[in-house]
Amino acid sequence: MKPKLINSIEEMFAIRKHLTGVIGFVPTMGFLHEGHLSLVREAKKQTDIVIVSIFVNPTQFSANEDLSEYPRNIERDIELLTDLEVDHIFFPTDEQMYPEDYKTWVDVDKITQVLCGRSRPTHFRGVTTIVTKLMNIIDPDIMFMGEKDFQQLVVLRQMAKDLNFRTKIVGCSIVREKDGLALSSRNKYLSPDGRKKALCLNKSLLLAQKLFSGNVVSSNKIISHMTDLIEDNEGIIDYIEVLEPKTLEHIPELISGCRIALAVVVENTRLIDNIKIV
Ligand code: PAF
Repeated sequence: MKPKLINSIEEMFAIRKHLTGVIGFVPTMGFLHEGHLSLVREAKKQTDIVIVSIFVNPTQFSANEDLSEYPRNIERDIELLTDLEVDHIFFPTDEQMYPEDYKTWVDVDKITQVLCGRSRPTHFRGVTTIVTKLMNIIDPDIMFMGEKDFQQLVVLRQMAKDLNFRTKIVGCSIVREKDGLALSSRNKYLSPDGRKKALCLNKSLLLAQKLFSGNVVSSNKIISHMTDLIEDNEGIIDYIEVLEPKTLEHIPELISGCRIALAVVVENTRLIDNIKIV
């Protein structure tokens, strides 16, 4: 059956009122790829009714970022979600989500200022604000998010805890191409040569795991080996950090269960990736 397409907040409220069972929610900015679809499949497994939102959220882009060029293909997105038997697709307009007199922001302290927050200082405020609004409108039991945006997942978990949202947040594993490249809507900006170079993100994370398995634990040492690999592939490093996964604090020595996260610019495209060290 075709999903119900809902493009007004009032209609979403009205429909939600009558939904029963466990409600699963996957927030997206559209231009869906296998990473998003894996979240939808997980939502289908764990819940009775699945709602997917498609909204390219302007407030999480800064003035010098790629909002107008952000890839969109709503017809294809609807087809893909129809194949997966999603129940409802919510795609509100900018004017509905941010009317002219809009004034309210949700801001999570500290953990939004590190990692991606350093080069994108207003990004997470946009994410937490839109996700709060979507969660208020949809009131899901479970929300499904990808671990590729690891900082986003940690920030949203903190926000949900601090603001007493009843929604449970489930993090789903990163989906990769066969050669290891993490799926991202931004991969489409890469030339064939850039795509090859972009493999350095995943390769450097696997190198870190290999070094740790061989008993190298110093974060600095591991970051230095990762840096060499990335720079040999002409990647420009924004950050590489070894992190405590709940607080996102930098840790000087790797331990099992820590995360390594990185952001690297390849051919003007900023890519992110991360690994859980085991
Ligand atoms: O991860 C994304 O696609 C976006 O940041 C989200 C969570 C849909 C909010 O706009």
